[in-house]
Amino acid sequence: MKFFIDTADLDEIREAASWGCLAGVTTNPSLYARTGGRLADFEDHMVRIAGICEGLPVSAESTATTTQEMIAEGTRLAALAPNVVVKLPVCDAALAATHALAAQGVEVNMTLVFSAPQALLAARAGARYISPFIGRIDDIGYDGIACLEEIVRAVHNYDYGHEVEIIAASVRSPHHVTQAALMGADIATVPFGALKNCVRHPLTVEGLAKFEADWEKVRNA
Ligand code: E4P
Repeated sequence: MKFFIDTADLDEIREAASWGCLAGVTTNPSLYARTGGRLADFEDHMVRIAGICEGLPVSAESTATTTQEMIAEGTRLAALAPNVVVKLPVCDAALAATHALAAQGVEVNMTLVFSAPQALLAARAGARYISPFIGRIDDIGYDGIACLEEIVRAVHNYDYGHEVEIIAASVRSPHHVTQAALMGADIATVPFGALKNCVRHPLTVEGLAKFEADWEKVRNA
């Protein structure tokens, strides 16, 4: 499973990229708002992210609401850098926009996906990436991982004539990461905090402290 980072924060992206484990970035309007960025700076900010992650897919989300506006905004976003992927929320208008953008060679990440039928339609429309949201399903008392498993199995049952990868999104914990990998998700997009929690383990911390203490004894012997 590949790791994307789910953030629009440049420092977080730089640090995660330095680990050598990063395969892409996903952003959304809420994540951009969290950076304190202004509307006028949005496209420049996406260019900066695309530059930090040269060659890796960077999802920039359209906030347009009609098919024509989504195609226009998607075409503009895709032209910002060769690695920009256009993120569209699954709905009738976005399926039509995905179909048109894919025909132009623009890669689309279909987001806010919560069911297998939504995912199957997204794949048929031409989406390159499909993002089921695990955590938000858990939040309302259902099983996000079970939904992800259905989507992975249903979508990967068929050939669409183009590559389709499932991104486990709305990931909140190392447990989500493990489960997404076991379910066969192609990618997990993980917030920086959860990514750091994936690195940490209490037994690693405890083991390191013991090695340091024992090495101190060796030094002083
Ligand atoms: C996916 O690409 C989204 O940006 C993201 O995973 C949303 O997750 P959230 O539920 O933490 O907002």
